[in-house]
Amino acid sequence: MKIILVSRSAKEVIKGGIELHDEATVSDLQEAIYARTKKFYPSRQRLTLPLQSGNQGKPVVLSPKKKLVEYCDGNAKTLTVVFKDLGVQVLYSTLFFWEYLGPLIIYPIFYYFPVYKYFGYEGERVIYPVQTYATCYWCLHYFKRIMETFFVHRFSHATSPLSNVFRNCAYYWTFGTYVAYHVNHPLYTPVSDLQMKIGFGFGLICQVSNFYCHLILRNLRSSDGNGGYQIPRGFLFNIVTCANYTTEIYQWLGFNIATQTIAGYVFLVVATLIMTNWALAKHRRLKKLFDGKDGRPRYPRRWVILPPFI
Ligand SMILES: NC(=O)c1ccc[n+]([C@@H]2O[C@H](COP(=O)([O-])OP(=O)(O)OC[C@H]3O[C@@H](n4cnc5c(N)ncnc54)[C@H](OP(=O)(O)O)[C@@H]3O)[C@@H](O)[C@H]2O)c1
Repeated sequence: MKIILVSRSAKEVIKGGIELHDEATVSDLQEAIYARTKKFYPSRQRLTLPLQSGNQGKPVVLSPKKKLVEYCDGNAKTLTVVFKDLGVQVLYSTLFFWEYLGPLIIYPIFYYFPVYKYFGYEGERVIYPVQTYATCYWCLHYFKRIMETFFVHRFSHATSPLSNVFRNCAYYWTFGTYVAYHVNHPLYTPVSDLQMKIGFGFGLICQVSNFYCHLILRNLRSSDGNGGYQIPRGFLFNIVTCANYTTEIYQWLGFNIATQTIAGYVFLVVATLIMTNWALAKHRRLKKLFDGKDGRPRYPRRWVILPPFI
């Protein structure tokens, strides 16, 4: 069969198209494109079916495992495929590693080193126990995230665009600096001992719960990341779709109860808004996948992220 490869502006990407055998898969097509243009390795390619004129919906994305004939109308021997270059790709684990490494290194710099003299504070700095515990708590959190990236998560996508590394690092590294600067500041006023203990105690329980949620998500897929999306069940997932985000938000709340800075609360609010947005999309996806039709299970009634509000 013949594949005509066009760009989104309908220009031919490979002159004369590509000839493949009738049983060829989308993955074979990706390899054929790569063989012709070494720059476009498979994870850099996004292949879709052309949108019918007047159709404003999303185009059908071609699944690498499917045969190309499955996307043909009837016995057509020619298939037009729209090609998009996703840009340079990096492994998901690389993306997560770099975004988490920043806060893990930056935060202790403000605790251990006399950086405040560069901000005009020359006097001796008194270090309160809460600042020491906060540094341990913060580092534990990001160390945990790096370990989970390499040893727990089973990502469905192998790679992500390189540009996301810069965007995500900007987010995490900036907030890491902002919170570290304020919590370790020479003019910082600690909260009461009881408040500190409640905050860190609650936060640690949430961190352990977050880890347990990630283990539950891990077990929904096989070790090669196959298995698609399943209904997460057990523990807090019986109540809320994105229990991992719920516990993430509450563990930052615990940190803020213990340390009490505006910077920390700003980080909490921004992170909550981001995760709420993602959780709404994940909840919608699971409800669509598990619609109770044609033998598919129906997605159970659950909160999205922060019961009893959303
Ligand atoms: N502080 C912040 O601003 C912030 C923001 C985001 C995340 N986080 C933290 O980082 C952690 C990881 O974030 P994330 O956004 O990658 O989490 P996530 O998308 O909810 O999922 C973590 C892993 O579980 C998989 N997964 C999720 N739902 C699944 C389902 N229904 N069936 C099968 N597999 C499923 C995901 O697969 P896919 O690869 O297919 O997605 C991913 O590999 C969060 O849980 C949170 O603790 C913090």
